[in-house]
Amino acid sequence: MKRLTILGSTGSIGRSTLALVEAAAPGEFALEALVAGRDVAALAAQARKFRARLAVVADASALGALREALAGSGIEAAAGPEAVVEAATRPADWTMAAIVGSAGLHSALAVLKRGGTLALANKETLVCAGEIVLAAAARTGAALLPVDSEHNAIFQALDTKDPALIEKIVLTASGGPFRTAELAVMRKATPEMAVKHPIWSMGAKISVDSATMMNKGLELIEAARLFPVPEARIEVLVHPQSTVHGMVQYADGSVLAQLGTPDMRTPISHCLAWPTRMPVRVPRLDLATLGRLEFFAPDPVRFPALRLAREALQAGAGAPTILNAANEVAVALFLDRRLGFLDIAAVVEETLSALGAPAAAGLDAVLALDDAARAEAGRIAARRAAA
Ligand SMILES: NC(=O)c1ccc[n+]([C@@H]2O[C@H](COP(=O)([O-])OP(=O)(O)OC[C@H]3O[C@@H](n4cnc5c(N)ncnc54)[C@H](OP(=O)(O)O)[C@@H]3O)[C@@H](O)[C@H]2O)c1
Repeated sequence: MKRLTILGSTGSIGRSTLALVEAAAPGEFALEALVAGRDVAALAAQARKFRARLAVVADASALGALREALAGSGIEAAAGPEAVVEAATRPADWTMAAIVGSAGLHSALAVLKRGGTLALANKETLVCAGEIVLAAAARTGAALLPVDSEHNAIFQALDTKDPALIEKIVLTASGGPFRTAELAVMRKATPEMAVKHPIWSMGAKISVDSATMMNKGLELIEAARLFPVPEARIEVLVHPQSTVHGMVQYADGSVLAQLGTPDMRTPISHCLAWPTRMPVRVPRLDLATLGRLEFFAPDPVRFPALRLAREALQAGAGAPTILNAANEVAVALFLDRRLGFLDIAAVVEETLSALGAPAAAGLDAVLALDDAARAEAGRIAARRAAA
């Protein structure tokens, strides 16, 4: 029996992970800990249903409500950011990191520091503190498994670690809800329009990131951290059918791709069963019915976020941390209707210009830079909103 901990269990990835657990044979998996941000009702229902040992809510003020919701169940309840990290520190055979944003950094690091197997959905962690995360994994020999469908695809298609044999890797992008939209429409885009993804059903933040294509920018940085390929050899292609999730082109001209219907249960299950596979009841790919697979170069004018991420990766040092922090601030303000859609990338660009690419070695320096970038992005956004 594999003991699992799910960080971010009430979100889109967390729920898909639990759906796989529910569909598995009885006794195959058991739940050690479930962690949510503030949704006590959903967390308590999951903890009861899956008989978790521990349920943790990050919002410290919600402890009373969680205890009440779990009364009589025998499930331990805890709350607050330290309790989230403590849950991640507890022994488990496999942990899903699916907290959204850099709020997931400390708990993901805690898993790697104890040498656990970490299925990483939380891409912001790798963008914000890539070197620290990778160093922690290398130190303890922890397994870091990419959940993001594109990176999971490349993880599956990559058959060498020799960079000389890898010509390029390709990340595909659905293009999001504004793939064919005019700039004038995008300028007036509402949160409702931006989160209405044509293919994937995801949390609000990643949905907005998909709409700006910052999601692909974050993934570009994530790919450069995870795979032995420099930024210049990571290509992004818009692929509206979202069927080919990622490709690796080798020095012999071969291209290996991973295909599948767009359903996160497939990459999550790949991580859950790794190094083997497990049967999953997702819709099967029917290429004859699908008929065609299209690929386009992304439009740099309507989607500047991709260029910003590439530039941040080229600049190195603390630039990706700044990019991620500014984007988290701008997306939250957009979802709160306090910033326009096109202002998201503009705020990120201005924050990067204001702060440059300062060195940020070590966790404290990265966290301080993350704070500084959030403050700067907030000021820039307030100025833009007032203009
Ligand atoms: N959804 C996808 O298909 C997909 C695909 C690839 C990668 N990802 C990545 O996976 C991560 C999660 O995405 P999602 O779509 O599942 O997001 P989501 O639906 O918004 O879920 C986020 C989860 O994080 C929890 N959370 C929020 N703030 C927290 C905090 N400070 N401490 C502890 N928990 C906190 C939320 O709890 P509450 O419910 O209580 O707020 C929820 O369980 C993101 O980094 C995203 O980029 C997602």
